Amino acid sequence: MKSGAEHWDEEYSSGSKHFHALASSDPSISAIKFVEYLEGLHKPLIGDLLEVGCGMGRNTNWLAQKGFRATGMDISKVAIEEAQKRAKELGLEVKYISGDMALPWPLSDNSLDFILDFVTSHLLNLEQLSSYLSEVQRVLRDDGRFALYTLDRTKDQQAQRLLVENPGPEPQTYIIPEMNHIERALTLEEIAEVYSPFIVEHSDLIYRPTRFGDQTYEKYYWFVVLKKSI
Ligand SMILES: C[S@@+](CC[C@H](N)C(=O)[O-])C[C@H]1O[C@@H](n2cnc3c(N)ncnc32)[C@H](O)[C@@H]1O
Repeated sequence: MKSGAEHWDEEYSSGSKHFHALASSDPSISAIKFVEYLEGLHKPLIGDLLEVGCGMGRNTNWLAQKGFRATGMDISKVAIEEAQKRAKELGLEVKYISGDMALPWPLSDNSLDFILDFVTSHLLNLEQLSSYLSEVQRVLRDDGRFALYTLDRTKDQQAQRLLVENPGPEPQTYIIPEMNHIERALTLEEIAEVYSPFIVEHSDLIYRPTRFGDQTYEKYYWFVVLKKSI
């Protein structure tokens, strides 16, 4: 199996042939939900924000346009170069970091108000997840928020089927056959456990048909906002 970086460089170089939306410059539903969530609380769209697994920057650049001081991090150099190019074309000051979110981050302690993880950490194994969550804990300010948009398995029939037909090496994981790609799909209770010590402050289950390869799947995702347990 290819390393994460090789795998994602190949996906982005192919024009995102499996995950078509990733090549787009339009924000994802997760970024829109995040902004709506803050607006619902009458919070200004400002602060220091990091998007892990930012891909070609469709969300990070859009959020920088909205007023956040934004940073994007991704394991794919191909995606980061394109994200930087797009930010420059838009005249935006966005910091992009090419790096693995499961390794120590080149960011200071308590330096962020928001960490966004949109369909990304479901790819990590439990050891990587533990290192990742330590970095979130270190870098997020005490009153900061950690927003997740991640795969559901309460209602998602594709995830339920793959967990039985093509299980992965760890509980709650399966392998997508077309890509030899491991994903984790969770119930809300499992999200609270897997992402502890962070505490679920808000959650929404979202129905979102998603095109993957040549097919559209009836997918469900969790949009969850977590806070630090202090
Ligand atoms: C399904 S895509 C989601 C992209 C983006 N968040 C969006 O919603 O458009 C997952 C992203 O995570 C990145 N990624 C995968 N493993 C990573 C890791 N260990 N560290 C940093 N980024 C990673 C991939 O390169 C890819 O851009």
